[in-house]
Amino acid sequence: MDYKAQVTNSILSVLNDELSSAEVYEKLEQPKTLAMGDLAFPAFALAKVFHKAPNQIAAELVAKIDQTSYEKVEAKGAYINFFLDKGQFSNEVLTDVLEQGAAYGQNDNGKGGNVPIDMSSPNIAKPISMGHLRSTVIGNSIAKILVKNGYHPIKDNHLGDWGTQFGKLIVAYKKWGNEADVKKDPINNLVKYYVKFHQEDKAHPELDDEARETFKKLEEGNEEEVFLWKWFRKVSLESFNKIYEKLGVTFDTYNGEAFYNDKMDEGIQILKDKGLLVESRGAQVVNLDKYNLNPALILKSDGATLYITRDIATAIYRDRTYKPAMNLYVVGSEQTYYFQQLKAVLLEMGLPSAENLHHIPFGLITVNGKKLSTRSGRIILLDKVLDDAIDLAKEQIEAKNPDLPNKEEVAKEVGVGAIIFGDLKNERTNNIDFVLEDQLKFEGETGPYVQYSHARAESILKKAGSIDFHGANKALADPSAWETVTALKEFPDVIVSACKDFEPSEIAKYSLRLAKAFNKYYAHSKILVDDDQLGARLSLVKAVSIVLKESLNLLGVKAPDAM
Ligand code: ARG
Repeated sequence: MDYKAQVTNSILSVLNDELSSAEVYEKLEQPKTLAMGDLAFPAFALAKVFHKAPNQIAAELVAKIDQTSYEKVEAKGAYINFFLDKGQFSNEVLTDVLEQGAAYGQNDNGKGGNVPIDMSSPNIAKPISMGHLRSTVIGNSIAKILVKNGYHPIKDNHLGDWGTQFGKLIVAYKKWGNEADVKKDPINNLVKYYVKFHQEDKAHPELDDEARETFKKLEEGNEEEVFLWKWFRKVSLESFNKIYEKLGVTFDTYNGEAFYNDKMDEGIQILKDKGLLVESRGAQVVNLDKYNLNPALILKSDGATLYITRDIATAIYRDRTYKPAMNLYVVGSEQTYYFQQLKAVLLEMGLPSAENLHHIPFGLITVNGKKLSTRSGRIILLDKVLDDAIDLAKEQIEAKNPDLPNKEEVAKEVGVGAIIFGDLKNERTNNIDFVLEDQLKFEGETGPYVQYSHARAESILKKAGSIDFHGANKALADPSAWETVTALKEFPDVIVSACKDFEPSEIAKYSLRLAKAFNKYYAHSKILVDDDQLGARLSLVKAVSIVLKESLNLLGVKAPDAM
């Protein structure tokens, strides 16, 4: 039952059409403290109509409202405060959660619509960066949130596996590299060659010409270049996959930039046919004055294609393959301008799904105050960050719960979960500095805190033994449980909102709120006491466990039963 609708009806029943149902509904407020009720109606809105002071209106209306389905209704200043019947309310909420289990909060707003998500998308022959980590975990969570809202996401890892840099890399490898080193430590050595190329080409500009020619050979399918490129791609993917495995993230497709290498003509042809491609200093550009944007460079003067040329082909391919309800690109905010240009070009082309293209930007991430950069050689490997987190989690578990049977597995779930949660609890566009120790604390706004709260709920249930939830009385009258009950009730709305905003942080913040409310309740109340509210209390604990676990799941974080 929608309690806002119930309160709306109560107000309407004592009015004579002075306000519409929608007007009343949207004026309802959540009072700052529970002592002021669960929903409040401000009588200011009626002052003009009734020509009376709001305080007086509030008092007069309260006298007329039928209070039977409420705990009480009272006028406080200009507000009418509604106190819901807590027993009835909790009975309905807990019944909903327990009956639906993990499906609680599921809706069908997306009606099965396809949503390709361009996510992770690291560049081969380079270490996967913290930015790519953000794209991976944000994209993965958005995919889960989309499923919960009835969409069908397609997670596409748009690898940066094409472009002139591979000409440079091949030249560098042939000059300074060797097979054994690449086999031993692929990414680090490939980066080393690439860095050396950039050091050398300052004094030897002819290296650049050589690289350009080598890339041309690659484009033309020359055997040796293609062989090396394929090999670099393969070893890079193997190293990325180790990280994806640790993070528990999978993809539906790995159609990187190279996949579109032979699919660019169509887009270029459409641009030509529509008269959108114009020459500018030998190059081909699309004018975007109308959008207040700089022209988009589509083909260089030598006919070479660019990042955007491949993205145009990608958009056409996704449009045709998926008929997308939305087209999402989870890519750092440094590419915001670029995606504005891309969208503008696609709109000009008349691509059906261009309207629904959403760039989902996110801020920079630093670790212990340090930015990660590949060029300068200061590489904090992501793999290492994850391993450090797992080690730290192991130490904590060892100290707190040395007898835990599956310590290794739990340490992984807690360590990796801490990193994912530490990222996702921040609004996407914020820059974050990551201090590993802080994210791993079992107290505070951390993943382990939410996981620990879930494990605590599970341990209570374990102690309680077998429970017949179906038959249990779920009318929990205890006021100290109220904050937890209302938090549980909120979950379906949070799911809708997080999807609309493409904002996993709304789920993370929600899980912290629910965990806090539950821990407060737990500190105040004895749960395992054999009285007539035992079933209701245990139903609450079970509901908390279900919703915390599902919240973490939506973030891509595991919820161990004990830790
Ligand atoms: N590989 C690119 C980078 O690391 C990100 C690709 C984003 N996706 C896209 N369709 N442009 O900067």
